[in-house]
Amino acid sequence: MKVKNFFINLKSNLVSGIAARWLISVFAPVLAVVLLSCMILCVFVSNFYTTTVRNKLRFEAENTSKYFESYVYPEYRDFTTCAQLLVSDFDKKTMMEIQVSNISGKSAYSSTGFAVTELSITPDVLEARTGTTSYWSGRLETTGEKIISYSAPLYNTDHVVCGTVRMISSLKNVEELLSTIYLIVALVGFFIIALTAFSGIYFIKSIVMPVRQINRVTLDIAKGNLNASSLNYSSSDEIGQLCRNINMMANELADSQKVKNDFISQISHELRTPITAIRGWSETMMADDSLNELAKRGVGIINEETERLSKMVEEMLDMSRMQSGRLNISTTPTDIIAEFENTVFMMGERAKGENISIVYNMSDEECIINCDKDRMKQVFFNIIDNAIKHSNPGSEVMASTQREKDCIKFIIEDFGAGISREDLPYVKEMFYKGSSQKRGSGIGLGVSDEIVRLHGGSLDIESELGIGTKVTVTLPVSKELQNDNTD
Ligand SMILES: Nc1ncnc2c1ncn2[C@@H]1O[C@H](COP(=O)(O)OP(=O)(O)OP(=O)(O)O)[C@@H](O)[C@H]1O
Ligand SMILES: [Mg+2]
Repeated sequence: MKVKNFFINLKSNLVSGIAARWLISVFAPVLAVVLLSCMILCVFVSNFYTTTVRNKLRFEAENTSKYFESYVYPEYRDFTTCAQLLVSDFDKKTMMEIQVSNISGKSAYSSTGFAVTELSITPDVLEARTGTTSYWSGRLETTGEKIISYSAPLYNTDHVVCGTVRMISSLKNVEELLSTIYLIVALVGFFIIALTAFSGIYFIKSIVMPVRQINRVTLDIAKGNLNASSLNYSSSDEIGQLCRNINMMANELADSQKVKNDFISQISHELRTPITAIRGWSETMMADDSLNELAKRGVGIINEETERLSKMVEEMLDMSRMQSGRLNISTTPTDIIAEFENTVFMMGERAKGENISIVYNMSDEECIINCDKDRMKQVFFNIIDNAIKHSNPGSEVMASTQREKDCIKFIIEDFGAGISREDLPYVKEMFYKGSSQKRGSGIGLGVSDEIVRLHGGSLDIESELGIGTKVTVTLPVSKELQNDNTD
């Protein structure tokens, strides 16, 4: 499994990024140089050995030819006697074979001791008959053995070619030696390539791994997740320095965010008490019949605005809790469909005031899940509030539930302003309102998304500008609770 993962990682590393650059700029040239050097070395060695053998044969053939012309033929004057003498006197029989034949090739003698009944007429023999010393290399038809032969002309006293002498050597030993040399060269080449590959992989790992970690952490930082993880690459090189700087930057950002959160939290807390007092008194004053119409309207507005202010303060508190990781949920088994319906009906009354109707088909189903009832109602409230806020008077907001195998979906769809494609990815971010001019501080969706996430669910938004928005909240449903319920 580990080996498989290693190769999968290696493959993905090799096709992109730093590894690909190393492959092109280092490994490929080294591979090319090593392969080329091995090939040149093999060709050179092969040439060296065959040339050495050829030179030896040439030397012997030419010497024998001179010896024949200067001493043997002038003394015996009979080709057959001379040929037999040349063959019997030849002292390097263990190293090479000597073949002496007359010009027609019919009378031939060999140092192998066997009578040559039919001389193999190779190009070098033909050349020698014309007076030129030349060589031939090829395989024996009978054994398939590779040989090299050198033939020289034999001159009589009238300086006329009367026969040929041919030196033959097997290349079997040379071929064996060359095979060993090729193997050694290939092994050395392979060792160099393997060494380059391993040192390269080590080098890439030592760069790519920390860079990947840096990527992950900086992406977390960019998303505002400052406490998620820190870089633990402790080397003193440039990458280590970069990691330490990024850690320092994340700490600084976390500190300043903490200061901001603490400030928002403190202000929100401070505002809570006076707002509660204003709200309490405005409600008391509204009940006072002695107030004239104008004063009553004024107190009504004060009451409404304080309510808005109070909601805003609560949202800001949630946001600061969320950002400092203190937004907790306490779950109890709850009939979530009933809670959704309650919120829909409560908001339905408000929507009527804005000439918007919420369409919802009552469900007789029950769906018990472990959730924080109040927090989930807060989520439904936020989403329906957004739908009403961005709908045009006279339009409808559709609310529905959809039970699936292991989850339940709550869908709220409006046919209002919609969200532009540019704004859509950011609407869950804190204080992001896009181009909306409607009331609100831009916190609702961010907090709702976090609450749903804490429940193990998801909040998805589909929207098209000018057409409408569909928000789907998906919550996981555990089987056990449903069974408990049906029992
Ligand atoms: N149903 C919708 N139709 C059109 N735009 C929407 C809809 N829901 C959300 N938005 C856009 O997303 C932004 C963020 O919504 P969010 O609920 O977080 O903030 P808000 O409603 O402006 O303020 P808050 O909910 O904190 O009172 C809104 O300002 C609006 O631009
Ligand atoms: Mg909202």
